[in-house]
Amino acid sequence: MVSSSTVLEFFLSLAVKASAETIHQMASSTTQGLQWGPCNLNTTLPVQCAKLTVPLDYTNSSDSRTISLDVIKYPAQKEPKRGSILLNFGGPGQDGLNSMLAYAPIQGPITGGYHDLISWDPRGTGNTLLFNCFPVDPTGYYAGLGNTLASAADTAVGLLWAQGQIISETCYNQLKDIGDYVGMAFVARDMMSIVDALGEDGLLRYWGISGGTTLGATVAAMFPDKVDKVVLDGVMNAHQYYNMFGEPEMVAATDATWEQFLRGCIAMPQNCALAHNRTFEELEATMLQLFTKMRESPPVYNGSIVFDLTIFKSHVYNSLYRPSSWPGLALAIDDLLQGNLDTFAARILGGAGAIPQQAQAILGIRCGDKRRRTGDVADLAPDFAQYRRQSRWFWDWAWGYYVTPCAQWKFSARERYEGDFRVKTRSPLLFVGNTFDPVTPLVSARNMSEGFEGSVLLTHNGHGHLALSQPSNCTDMAIQRYFLEGILPAPGTVCEPNLPLFATGA
Ligand SMILES: *[C@@H]1O[C@H](CO)[C@@H](O)[C@H](O)[C@H]1NC(C)=O
Ligand SMILES: *[C@@H]1O[C@H](CO)[C@@H](O)[C@H](O)[C@H]1NC(C)=O
Ligand SMILES: *[C@@H]1O[C@H](CO)[C@@H](O)[C@H](O)[C@H]1NC(C)=O
Ligand SMILES: *[C@@H]1O[C@H](CO)[C@@H](O)[C@H](O)[C@H]1NC(C)=O
Ligand SMILES: *[C@@H]1O[C@H](CO)[C@@H](O)[C@H](O)[C@H]1NC(C)=O
Ligand SMILES: *[C@@H]1O[C@H](CO)[C@@H](O)[C@H](O)[C@H]1NC(C)=O
Repeated sequence: MVSSSTVLEFFLSLAVKASAETIHQMASSTTQGLQWGPCNLNTTLPVQCAKLTVPLDYTNSSDSRTISLDVIKYPAQKEPKRGSILLNFGGPGQDGLNSMLAYAPIQGPITGGYHDLISWDPRGTGNTLLFNCFPVDPTGYYAGLGNTLASAADTAVGLLWAQGQIISETCYNQLKDIGDYVGMAFVARDMMSIVDALGEDGLLRYWGISGGTTLGATVAAMFPDKVDKVVLDGVMNAHQYYNMFGEPEMVAATDATWEQFLRGCIAMPQNCALAHNRTFEELEATMLQLFTKMRESPPVYNGSIVFDLTIFKSHVYNSLYRPSSWPGLALAIDDLLQGNLDTFAARILGGAGAIPQQAQAILGIRCGDKRRRTGDVADLAPDFAQYRRQSRWFWDWAWGYYVTPCAQWKFSARERYEGDFRVKTRSPLLFVGNTFDPVTPLVSARNMSEGFEGSVLLTHNGHGHLALSQPSNCTDMAIQRYFLEGILPAPGTVCEPNLPLFATGA
């Protein structure tokens, strides 16, 4: 979920590396200790890196091929050291090494600073089976595919379906050698290989965010006896991830988050360019008109750029992830209302694209993990209907880029977690969910928490994607207490963010 455009460009620049060559034959496939050394990364953080050899195919003991995982450590700042905590940053398909540079300075202090933080490039990213379907033109052709909104025209669903077929077939032809080996279950086994190689107590300490929560639920369900501490923040519904074409629950709180943007604006007019003298109802009505205008007569900028509904809604949706960007979003929308396209353009162009993961890793992992396939777009209708029921404003945003490719996907993860996520773990998990999260709603956190015996759901009464995006000392302390003392917050605990919405201007 790192989404600054420089980080994005950096991720995209990595996408041209070959991937099949990283599969090697090796005599020894047993895990060795990790040899830490300098990282080949542009950073002043005191990180160290290592490589770990693991099997390519955990399901076939007569297949001796191996892959090498790139592992990174952000050392504990304090003594005495506790056991390491593994981190995964979501997507699925977000790399581990570069994300660590962005997140360790935030997550490290929250843990208390006594744990080494460890991450790794999951299969499908970095140098490890990088899932790149478009090596010749990594950003150009693919970037235009699958980004249309389903509501943009009555032909859009057909277009998305056809583009999904192109993506699926291109990925298959490009990545036949690796496509079946990049799912979550194998990543879970890679994680346990790292845990073993660390040579500590053999138990899993893990903090997963966003897509990293489905990985966390999967590893905890596959290895319940190895769980020491697992924190899952920004929880996805893992049942929908594995079992449905789409994941409509994803947008269950998107409308509510959008309404909070409008209400927060009205409540803090001095920091919100959209407030003027409007009431909430007036502002909401103005927004309905604007969305209709963007659909029916989008403005043309500079004689060549159409700011259409897709661009507009994507910008709004992406901004909802981070409350700190809401004053800027208000300025951009106000520009649009006033017809100030120059300033609007300056604010939104160069923002993060719709697919901020490494190459097509998000598809490689997610699509291979999904059980269902179809050749008939009509089979997706029930899922689409659920998206519509979940969100009036954004139902069409969330599914375009992966739902249609995944439904027609030609790979299948070698191994999938086949259980129902009803699990008793060695120690209980801590789930964290935001009341107003536009993409991983509280209802999904509740759903997943109900399956894990003894787990507690901490409600972060904040906005945006992940508790990290509107910080709360209360939430941070709960996470720290869990990692340091193993103490879960009382069931029903609600934490307030430190600052209200629009506390500062853009
Ligand atoms: C390394 O990072 C610094 C600070 O972000 C940046 O100014 C510099 O251009 C980077 N160097 C390379 C080789 O990417
Ligand atoms: C397992 O690996 C062996 C050796 O590479 C191979 O011949 C065999 O086809 C593999 N089995 C499966 C089910 O992929
Ligand atoms: C708000 O309303 C007052 C009184 O109706 C008016 O004088 C003022 O110009 C309005 N301000 C804005 C920003 O519209
Ligand atoms: C607008 O058009 C001018 C002249 O064609 C061009 O130089 C400029 O780069 C354009 N600006 C943007 C943001 O596309
Ligand atoms: C969790 O979500 C799945 C998929 O939407 C649903 O089938 C299941 O009933 C839910 N379970 C709970 C406990 O809410
Ligand atoms: C949160 O913690 C920081 C650092 O200890 C402190 O400066 C700040 O006042 C705290 N905020 C709240 C709302 O408790």
